[in-house]
Amino acid sequence: MAILTGINKVKTAVFISGNGSNLNSLIKFSKSSKSPISIKLIISNNSKAKGLNYSKIFRIKKKVINFRNTKTFDNKLISILKNNKIEMICLAGFMKILSKYFIRKFSGKIINIHPSLLPKYKGLNTHKRALINKEKYSGCTVHYVNSRLDSGKIILQKRVKISKNETEKTLTRKILIQEHKLYPEAISKIFNL
Ligand code: GAR
Repeated sequence: MAILTGINKVKTAVFISGNGSNLNSLIKFSKSSKSPISIKLIISNNSKAKGLNYSKIFRIKKKVINFRNTKTFDNKLISILKNNKIEMICLAGFMKILSKYFIRKFSGKIINIHPSLLPKYKGLNTHKRALINKEKYSGCTVHYVNSRLDSGKIILQKRVKISKNETEKTLTRKILIQEHKLYPEAISKIFNL
């Protein structure tokens, strides 16, 4: 296997809105020699996102952006990404919908992690809906982002068993643990590693 150094790794931006536990796992992964990516930029729509702390801890550049889906705004965001030579975007708990224009500009280069076994439970409140529907399994999915919500090509999925007295809280935790493994695995898969 080729040795990947900071120089030849794919320059990646991670978009977050909240806790950033997936961001943390991606940063840790990116630091291993096996990782094809190097995280150069953290973008958040929320200035209070806890995950922004990882910018300080790991000395990664951050930008808080008040997302507005207009072409002028999109072009500003695109130029920030271009100025930082960003080649790939990982959405990690990013709760804004990106414009079709933006997605087209980065076509095939944006991936997302979603806490359900897509195509089931697109959108919000996935765990609550899976529990109400008495599903036996749920899980998480890493997929390419296209212009339809949570509908792009699936890269990898991990199934998680729902136990008898599962609550939203326990299921969230259980699935997050799997998300932290799945996201790096999916990135390795994209680069055939
Ligand atoms: C994760 O469960 C992620 O899959 C989900 O938000 C959580 C973020 O946690 N994403 C979505 O629901 C996107 N539609 P984190 O901030 O600790 O990574």
